[in-house]
Amino acid sequence: MYITTPIYYVTDSPHIGHAYTTVVGDALIRFYRLAGEDAWYLTGTDEHGLRIARAAEELGLTPQQLVDDVSSQYRDVWSSLEISNDDFIRTTDERHKRGAQAFLQTLYDNGDIYAARYEGLYCVPCEDYYREEDLLEGGLCPIHNRPVERFSEDNYFFRLSKYGDALLAHIEANPDFVFPPTRRNEVVGFIKQGLEDFSISRASLAWGIPIPWDEKQVTYVWVEALMNYATAIGYGQDEGQFHKWWPAVHLVGKDILRFHAVIWPAMLMAAGVEPPRQIAAHGWLLVGGEKMSKTALNQIAPRQLMETFGVDGYRYHFLRDVSFGPDGNFSWEGMVDRYNADLANDLGNLANRVLNMVERYRAGSVPAVAGSEESDQKLRAAASGALEALGGFRRFAFNDALLEVWRLFGAANAYVEENAPWALAKDPDRAGRLDEVLNALLESLRVGAILISPVMPNAAGRLWGQLGLEGRPDTAPYTKTAVFGVFPELTVRRGDPLFPRIEEG
Ligand code: ME8
Ligand code: MG
Repeated sequence: MYITTPIYYVTDSPHIGHAYTTVVGDALIRFYRLAGEDAWYLTGTDEHGLRIARAAEELGLTPQQLVDDVSSQYRDVWSSLEISNDDFIRTTDERHKRGAQAFLQTLYDNGDIYAARYEGLYCVPCEDYYREEDLLEGGLCPIHNRPVERFSEDNYFFRLSKYGDALLAHIEANPDFVFPPTRRNEVVGFIKQGLEDFSISRASLAWGIPIPWDEKQVTYVWVEALMNYATAIGYGQDEGQFHKWWPAVHLVGKDILRFHAVIWPAMLMAAGVEPPRQIAAHGWLLVGGEKMSKTALNQIAPRQLMETFGVDGYRYHFLRDVSFGPDGNFSWEGMVDRYNADLANDLGNLANRVLNMVERYRAGSVPAVAGSEESDQKLRAAASGALEALGGFRRFAFNDALLEVWRLFGAANAYVEENAPWALAKDPDRAGRLDEVLNALLESLRVGAILISPVMPNAAGRLWGQLGLEGRPDTAPYTKTAVFGVFPELTVRRGDPLFPRIEEG
C-alpha cells in the first residue's frame, strides 16, 4: 500500500487544511501497517515554479532560501503531529530532478510532446491555465479572485487530447479509481467535454527543472510536481523499488482533483506506466464557514490547537468530526466538546477508574480469569463490533469506525455501572467475580488501545504502558491481537490522566 499526500507549496506555512490531508494519510498508513500490510507513506514540498519565484522576490529572499525555510517548517509540524511518513520529497532534490528528466524524456521519445506556440491566460497562484469563459467578471481567477495574466511563448505541449477515451475506459473499468463517486462523476464530465493539449514548459522562467532536450526551458510546475509520486520511489533510477510500491493511492483536496485524476494518469499512460490505484479527494475544511486564506487572516496553524488539545486530541478531532469527502467546518467549541465528551470522559475516565480500582482492590494486579455472565457477553460483542468496524478505514469511513470503537468504551462504562465493583469489593464471597469484572475491563482497555492506535499513536502507547503491557499496541495484525480474551496477570502503572479535561472559556 503506497499512500501519498499532495506536495505542499512552500508559499504558505502549514495550516490545518494541509494537516487534514496529512493526518488522514497517517491514520490510513498506520491502519494498513496494523493490518500487517506492507505500507509506504510519502509527503513533501512543491518548491519550483513562478508562484514560488515571485514569492521569494517579494520577501527579498532567493528562491532557495524561501524553500529551505518553509520546507523545514512542514517537516517540523509533521513530526510534532506524529506523522509517520517513510519519505519526504522536495522537488529541489537532485533525485527528483533526475527522475523527472527521465520521465519527460520518455514522453518525448514516445511522441507525446511537441513544440508549439502557447498563448493564453494564466493564474500564477493556481499555476493553472484558464479559458476566457471560465473567469469571473473582470477577468478574475475564480479561485483567487484576482486578475489572470496573458502569456505568450514558444513551448512544448503534451498530447493530453489523445488520452480521453483511454481515461474514460479506465474509470469505467475501475469504479473506485476516483473516490468518492461524486468526484468520479465530476471527472467523467470534465473528460467528456473534450481534453486539450497543454503547455508543459516555460521559456521565461529559470526556477524549475530544465527540459532535458532543450535546457533553455524549464518544466511546467504542475507536470514536475505530479512526477514526485514516481521519482520519490525510484522512477528512472531504481526500477525495483519503483515497482515494489507503484501504483499509489493519492490523497488530495478537491481543488487539485483534475490534475491527479486526468493529467497525471494520462502522463503515466503516455510513459507506459500503469495509472494510480486511486485518487481519493476530500472537501474543504472551512473556518467559520469560510475558506482559509492568507488574505482573510483565518489560517489556523496546527500548533495553535496542539497547545490545548495535544497531538492525540488534535488527530482525533479531525478524523472523528470531519467526514472524508464533503466540506467540513472547524470550530473551537466543537473541538472542545468532542475532546471532553469522547476523550476526557468516555475513554480518559474509564481508564482512570479501572486502573484506580485495580490498584485499590487488587494492589495493581488481577488474576487472568474470564466471566461468562450476560454483561460479559455484551462487552465481548462490543469489542468484536469495534474490531470489525476498524476495517472501515479501507473506505475512508474514519468517523464510523471511531464511533464503533467508542461504543466499546461506552459498553465498558456501562459494564462498570452494571457490575458495581465497589460493591463486589465489600463482599468476600464475591472476590472471584470482582477478579472477572476487573479483568474484563482491563481487557477492554487493551483492545481499545490497539484500535485507537492508528489515530492516536501517542495516547495508545501511554495507555498500553499504564496497563503494564510490554511492547507496543500497534503490533500487526490487529485482527489477531485486538480479539477480546483474558487480560494477563500484570501490574498496572497508573500515570498521569490520559486526557485532562479542558475547561471552556
Ligand atoms: O496545490 N481544507 O499545494 P497546496 C482541506 N503544490 N484541505 C486543504 C485546505 C483546506 N482548507 N487547504 C489546503 C498544491 N488543503 C500543489 C500540489 S501535488 C503534486 C501538488 C490541502 O499547498 C488539500 O490536500 O496548495 C489540498 O489539495 C492541498 O492542501 C493543496 O496544497
Ligand atoms: Mg493551494
